[in-house]
Amino acid sequence: MILPSFIALACAAAAALSSALPLEKRQCQATLNTAVAVSQSLQSHYFVASSGMYTGGSLWTDANAVEDLHNLMLATGTNEFADLGAQSWIGRNALNNANWDNVYNGANDDALWIVLALWKVGDYKAARGQDSSPYFNAGKTIYNSIAGQWDFSGKCGGGIWWNTQQTYKNAITSELFLLTSAEGSVRGYGGDYLANAQKTWTFLKNSGMRNSDGLWNDGLTDSCANNGQETWTYNQGVIAAGLASLYAATGDASLLTEAEITLDATIRLKTQNGILKESCDDAVAGGAVCNQDQQIFKGLWMKHLQYYLDRANDSARTAKYSSFIGAQESAVYHYGTNSENVVGSVWYAGSQGGSVFTPKTDSSGIAAHVAAAKYGPC
Ligand SMILES: *[C@@H]1O[C@H](CO)[C@@H](O)[C@H](O)[C@H]1NC(C)=O
Repeated sequence: MILPSFIALACAAAAALSSALPLEKRQCQATLNTAVAVSQSLQSHYFVASSGMYTGGSLWTDANAVEDLHNLMLATGTNEFADLGAQSWIGRNALNNANWDNVYNGANDDALWIVLALWKVGDYKAARGQDSSPYFNAGKTIYNSIAGQWDFSGKCGGGIWWNTQQTYKNAITSELFLLTSAEGSVRGYGGDYLANAQKTWTFLKNSGMRNSDGLWNDGLTDSCANNGQETWTYNQGVIAAGLASLYAATGDASLLTEAEITLDATIRLKTQNGILKESCDDAVAGGAVCNQDQQIFKGLWMKHLQYYLDRANDSARTAKYSSFIGAQESAVYHYGTNSENVVGSVWYAGSQGGSVFTPKTDSSGIAAHVAAAKYGPC
């Protein structure tokens, strides 16, 4: 445990640093220390250096774990996981100029998660004066391939297909395309990024996938109606990050209003006692358990709320979400984490109630710590 006096000192130091470097937001050192400790536990429990994969992981959730640890190192300014980018499965493929179609096997959403992770690795390499180009370039290559997965027939107003079989349009794939498109534009990559972001938001806004509560359901029926499937938390976070990036690209603040409809609905409707609860989270013994994908969703909401606030760049908006972010981090730490410093799937109930422990649940918790270091109370 870190003593309160140390926390106060660390926060004073962080505040001094942030006035010296105006683009760096305040980071809470105590929360960063927790994030580093849990990340070291993630690596020692699950990461296999010889394969670059996590035991019990999957392609897209591994990509998110790699992204989280680079997001963390960008926050700490330190290099605990300096080798991970090149060692990771996605990093190896970037360095080897892989045929990416063989890596993501037609899963367009997985491909876009990989783009986000590779760009974050590139950001870290660039921040340390190292060669970032293999990571940025691989991300652009994948992005361009997925841009061709738009439904150019215009059915349901377009959108990106979930996979290359082109039988289902879900919210997440187009949300990720909105985010990667707008990010490419903000990053000055040129080309079609801004136009793609605009057309994707037009598609999403008119798709009917956002319901009357302000939450995004999973996807569309064949006849272009909201299919009424679950409003997973990650859907509610990635849309906000995408809209804030598009705001950063265009200056259109109405996009932030749209994003907060959904963020606020998440806080109102996807929580129990103020803590995020995925519909499949269940603290009752023998109750429901989230599947392998669902185990990472809450952390993705937290990470993309961080990205939302990064791009919104507005102290009033940061203040609005700060205490909620801090409460999630506290629940992850006090309720969700076991004696080996691995974060479980359930955050809302004590003693990791009903949790499973996997690299997905663990990186989900890390994302909450990193977001809170930047935007929670200290
Ligand atoms: C964030 O906003 C401040 C003004 O409030 C501005 O000085 C700064 O350049 C902005 N940062 C970014 C990354 O846009």
